[in-house]
Amino acid sequence: MQNFVFQNPTKLIFGQGQLEQLKIEVPQYGKKVLIVYGGGSIKRNGIYDQITSILDEIGVEFVELSGVEPNPRVSTVRKGINICRENGVDFILAVGGGSVIDCTKAIAAGTKYEGDVWDLVTKKAIAQEALPFGTVLTLAATGSEMNSGSVITNWETNEKYGWGSPVTFPKFSILDPRHTFTVPRDQTVYGMVDIMSHVFEQYFHHGTNTPIQDRYCESILRTVIETAPKLVNDLENYKYRETILYAGTMALNGTLAMGVRGDWATHNIEHAVSAVYDIPHGGGLAILFPNWMKHVLDENVARFKQMAERVFSINAEGKTDREVALEGIEALRRFWTSIGAPSRLADYGIGEEKLDVMAEKAMANGEFGHFKQLNKEDVLAIYRASL
Ligand code: NZQ
Ligand code: ZN
Repeated sequence: MQNFVFQNPTKLIFGQGQLEQLKIEVPQYGKKVLIVYGGGSIKRNGIYDQITSILDEIGVEFVELSGVEPNPRVSTVRKGINICRENGVDFILAVGGGSVIDCTKAIAAGTKYEGDVWDLVTKKAIAQEALPFGTVLTLAATGSEMNSGSVITNWETNEKYGWGSPVTFPKFSILDPRHTFTVPRDQTVYGMVDIMSHVFEQYFHHGTNTPIQDRYCESILRTVIETAPKLVNDLENYKYRETILYAGTMALNGTLAMGVRGDWATHNIEHAVSAVYDIPHGGGLAILFPNWMKHVLDENVARFKQMAERVFSINAEGKTDREVALEGIEALRRFWTSIGAPSRLADYGIGEEKLDVMAEKAMANGEFGHFKQLNKEDVLAIYRASL
């Protein structure tokens, strides 16, 4: 294991009916709230009405920022910052998926930063403080509800970067599986791909003596693999939604990162694709991850063999380690295809035209990836294998 410090200050409030906890949580932080949400799903499924009536009941005033895009844009973050400053907002409530939460993190830190918020996203400046914020999560995927990360897109320059700071952890997050009942089948699948990808990013490392970390990862992967096929055919099943919601938070709240150095190259490669083509993050990962795996397999065949045997129950008898490892990667591809995830860039109408542009964007901060450090040729090879 590597040395590590673990600290996660977010209060996780999980389960049916937990929205009521807003009555206790919100007054601790503010009297003037900005509610941030997306394109309207929370109005259609009734969550918006429930929240605003709770705020009315406890006498908390609120203003709103709606229309946060999937792959949230810095232009929307700037709008939110203006609303906070003009209205003396002292607390922000994010209601939605990862995009709404990530946008909220940037608004919270940007409001307290004198310069342009894009400086924080590009790490030209480091956020020193932020408005307090909480979340009501409506989609299981990113883990943003219990981490300090935020991913923001600049649509003018086609750049998409992740950033974060100790001041951008949510104060609390409310996770009611019922709030995810209305997530459509495709977004449900993208979410589960994202969750599994977060586990893979932390599973593929060269550390030794990480038996607990490995089995935490394998447990989440096996559970998602077991649950996903049932959930996609039964979208309002409380138990399946509950399992996946919990999986999403545990996959990226720092637990799996203790003592290991994750890779994170595939996320970087995907962000470059969605910066140029605005495709769903989970869809991009489903296409790219198995191809990254094949590209880096020889760095540590034993680790891939372990995944194949323990996660996909591949029988190793009479096969070389490399054959077993490759069967594991093929099993992952087959599994994602079976639940309806895309497998080729062509599924989003993406051809060869901008591979070089995307590779340049992925290389913006130099070579990357800890399992195998990738250069531009590596990135291009993974894109070409994904066409
Ligand atoms: O905008 P609305 O109308 O709310 O619709 C959303 C959106 O269209 C819909 N949705 C959400 N909850 C729903 C629902 N529809 C019906 N019922 C509900 N209960 O789902 C669509 C996608 O939402 P979005 O928030 O974009 O999805 P997700 O949670 O997958 O977030 C994706 C973003 O997070 C970033 C991604 O890059 C992407 O920008 N990531 C953030 C991370 C983090 N902060 O730690 C890590 C991730 O790796 C990821 O990069
Ligand atoms: Zn992700």
